[in-house]
Amino acid sequence: MRLPKPTLIATTLFLLGLLLLGLLLIGGANPTMAQDGPTTTEEPEGTPEVGDMGMVDGEEDELVARGRYLVHAVAACQDCHIGGSDYNAVYEDTLHASLAGGYTLLGNPWGQVTAPNLTVLHEWTDEQLENAIRYGVRPDGSLLLPPMPYEAYASLSDEDMTAIIAYLRSLEPVESEIAEPVLLEGLTREDIRTAPEINADAEFPTVDSSDMLAYGEYLGRHVAACVRCHGSAAEDGTLDPAGPLTGQVYVYGDFDAFQAPSLADERLSVEIIFTLLHTGIKANGRGVFIMPAYAYMQMTEADAQAIASWVISARP
Ligand code: HEC
Ligand code: HEC
Repeated sequence: MRLPKPTLIATTLFLLGLLLLGLLLIGGANPTMAQDGPTTTEEPEGTPEVGDMGMVDGEEDELVARGRYLVHAVAACQDCHIGGSDYNAVYEDTLHASLAGGYTLLGNPWGQVTAPNLTVLHEWTDEQLENAIRYGVRPDGSLLLPPMPYEAYASLSDEDMTAIIAYLRSLEPVESEIAEPVLLEGLTREDIRTAPEINADAEFPTVDSSDMLAYGEYLGRHVAACVRCHGSAAEDGTLDPAGPLTGQVYVYGDFDAFQAPSLADERLSVEIIFTLLHTGIKANGRGVFIMPAYAYMQMTEADAQAIASWVISARP
C-alpha cells in the first residue's frame, strides 16, 4: 500500500501577516523574491540509518517512557526531526522513529532550514534544552527559526518538559549531517522571528488530566500543537498559541504553502475528531494529508477524547 506523503512536510507557522512583515523588514528587496521562496535548493547530505535510534533496553524508566510518548505520539517531533528518509519506518514504529534530523523544510517564504539531530544533544544542560524547546534559543544564544513551534511549546508543563528532556537524553547518538539554513539574502535569524524572552523563574504547572477540557486544551495547544496548523496569528505575525482554531496560519510544505481547515467548522463533532485522531480517517472516509495523524493514532483514547472535546468546546 502506498502511504500518503508524510506529514513531515514541514509545518512552519508562517502566516501571511509575517510574510508582509518580512517584506517590510527586507525593505527595498524585490517583493516577489519573498514569494518565490528559497533561491537555492542545496540538499542536506548523508542519510542516517533509520532503526538505530537508541532504545533503552528492557524496562524503560517511567519518565523516559512518558517522554517517548509525548515526543512521538502527541507532539510528533519526528514529523520534522525525522532521521533519514525511510518514512515508512515512521509509520510502522512511530514510538521509535528516528530523531536524527536531516529533513529540509524548503517552502518557507524566507528560505530553507534543515531540522537538526536531536540524538546528539547530551552535552546540553537541561536548562539549555528547555530554552531551545520553550524559547527557541540555542546555548550559544542564536535563535531557532520558526518552523520549530516554540510558541506552542513555551507553555509545556515543567513535568512534561522534564520527561521530554529525559527521553532525549536516553537516545543513542546517531550521526547525521545537517545542512546550514539558507536564508534569503539580507535576512538574519533575528529578522525572521521574534525571540520570546527567556524567563528562568517562570513556572509551568501540571494541568490536571481529570479536568478533560482543560487537559485537552493543554495537549491541543501546547503539546500536539494543533495550533501550528489550525491556529491563528498574533498581530506581529507570530503564531498565537492561545488564538482561535480558525486555520489562519500558513503551513509551508516542501514547495508550497497552504492553510489547514478551520476547526470551528460546524460539521465537525467530537466523534469525527476523535475518529480522525484515533484512526487517521476523516469524516469522508479518507485518510488525512499533511497532518501527523499516524502519530496521534498512538495517543491514548483518553488523550484523543480530551483533545476532540476541547476542539468542539472551543468553537465560537
Ligand atoms: C514543524 C517542524 C518541527 C517540529 C514539529 C519540531 N521541531 Fe524542533 N526544530 C525544527 C527546526 C526546523 C529546527 C532548527 C531551526 C534552526 O535551525 O534555526 C528545530 C530545532 C530544535 C532544537 C535545537 C537543536 C539544535 O541542534 O539546534 C531542539 C532541541 C528541538 N528542535 C526539539 C524539538 C522537540 C523536542 C520537538 C517536539 C516536542 C520538536 N523540536 C518539534 C522543527 C521542528
Ligand atoms: C502539520 C499540520 C497539522 C497539524 C499539526 C494538525 N493538523 Fe489537522 N489537518 C491538517 C490538514 C492539512 C488538514 C486537511 C487535510 C485533509 O483533509 O486531508 C487537517 C484536517 C483536520 C480535520 C478535518 C477532518 C475532516 O473530517 O475533514 C480535523 C478535525 C483536524 N485536522 C484536527 C486536528 C487536531 C485536533 C490536531 C491536533 C491534535 C491537528 N488537526 C493537527 C493539518 C494539521
